[in-house]
Amino acid sequence: MLTGLEGLTFSVQTFGCQMNKHDSERIIGMLESLGCQEVAGPEESDIVIFVTCCVRESADTRLSGHVMSLKDHPVRTGSPLDERIIAIGGCIGQRDGEALTQRMPHVQVVFGTSALHALPSLLLQAASGARAVDTHEDGVLFSTDLPAHREHAWAAWLPITVGCNNFCTYCIVPHVRGRERSRALEDIRAEAEACVAQGVKEITLLGQNVNSYGRDLHGEPRFAEVLDAVDATGIERLRFATSHPKDLSEEVIRRFSTLRSLMPALHLPVQSGSDRILAAMNRRYTQARYLDLIHRVRDACPGIALSTDIIVGFPGETEEDFQQTLEVVDEVGYHQVFTFIYSKREGTPAATYPDEVPREVAQDRFGRLVEVVGLRALEQNQKDMGAVVPVLFEGPSKKDPRLMTGKTPKGQTVHVGAPENGCVPEAGSIASVRITEAKTWYLTGTLL
Ligand code: 5AD
Ligand code: SF4
Repeated sequence: MLTGLEGLTFSVQTFGCQMNKHDSERIIGMLESLGCQEVAGPEESDIVIFVTCCVRESADTRLSGHVMSLKDHPVRTGSPLDERIIAIGGCIGQRDGEALTQRMPHVQVVFGTSALHALPSLLLQAASGARAVDTHEDGVLFSTDLPAHREHAWAAWLPITVGCNNFCTYCIVPHVRGRERSRALEDIRAEAEACVAQGVKEITLLGQNVNSYGRDLHGEPRFAEVLDAVDATGIERLRFATSHPKDLSEEVIRRFSTLRSLMPALHLPVQSGSDRILAAMNRRYTQARYLDLIHRVRDACPGIALSTDIIVGFPGETEEDFQQTLEVVDEVGYHQVFTFIYSKREGTPAATYPDEVPREVAQDRFGRLVEVVGLRALEQNQKDMGAVVPVLFEGPSKKDPRLMTGKTPKGQTVHVGAPENGCVPEAGSIASVRITEAKTWYLTGTLL
């Protein structure tokens, strides 16, 4: 019988949102600190961990495919285990719990969204042949005391809230992750300070709706104060995601023109441009209010890069409703749009709504939307032709290792050729780049 996890190999597959990416970094850091070794794929792993998402059905289906494909594969030769341990965490773990091990008997561990700390002991139980499930909702909400193995040493995710109170009618998140809870400002400040001391250059504050931060703490402090506190740590670049338009306050908008570190980029999900559909989605704003907000954001920060989420094919969406969504995309000129076809989630109000949009109609709208999104994104990137911008370098480009890749303050990806003098900027350093080419999803530039 194993008494510790030392020497075991593991891999983590992450689906879904940035919160899951953050959790995976903590899981990797925690297992490494216990003497486990991360390996590239499931074949060589004694432990395979899935951090899952259930926002759309496609993510649910993909997980089943991945887990089933491991069913008949023996564990690597030389493994101290008789059988590979498969562990499912994240939103599907939280939602389905025990039922997952019944549906897929080769899954030995299920851990919920606040059970990261329990994972090592759950894995040990599984190593001795027991099934282990922990989906307690009163576990540790913020696993930020666990060591993080960051994908990029200079970029940190920093959760400030978990859960959501908004109950958009299509969305499963509040049903799985529970009510919104805010992390104490002192904790956030301490972690941000530690990040700066470790050489982190960019912090992204995370929450389903960061703008309602603090409401469960008697309304004080507010999100703007979190921004001020993190900026004051001396962090180079500060970002946040996600914002609900109904809660984006004037004082937060003002921070885009006053805070040194706050990057000129804002993700503001609109979901639909039709007032009728927005009401059915329980979004609590209208197209006019959303556009007014965009104008105020642009007044405070004229060059800001805006991105959004859009769902097409929500029950009852007509061609006219869809045209209003296209209108918003045209008017705003987003740098990036995450486009989704509505996916029915059992347990949400919209799952019972009549007038489902046929799949072909939704697909057709999706295709037309993606086309307009691409045109507008290209126009936005073209505005930066010739500009000189500070780029935070990430390392060699995945597409072409002769190029280096980095991010502009607006969050655009830039590819840069190695300079003739051979002085390649180190990953994690910031250097000036002149933009020489603009494509829909990236820029090209030369190092100055
Ligand atoms: N179907 C399609 N898209 C959804 N999203 C959330 N729930 C659903 C659903 N049931 C999208 C929203 C949200 C993003 C994270 O996922 O656009 O902003
Ligand atoms: Fe889901 Fe709406 Fe909450 Fe976002 S704000 S997590 S879409 S319920």
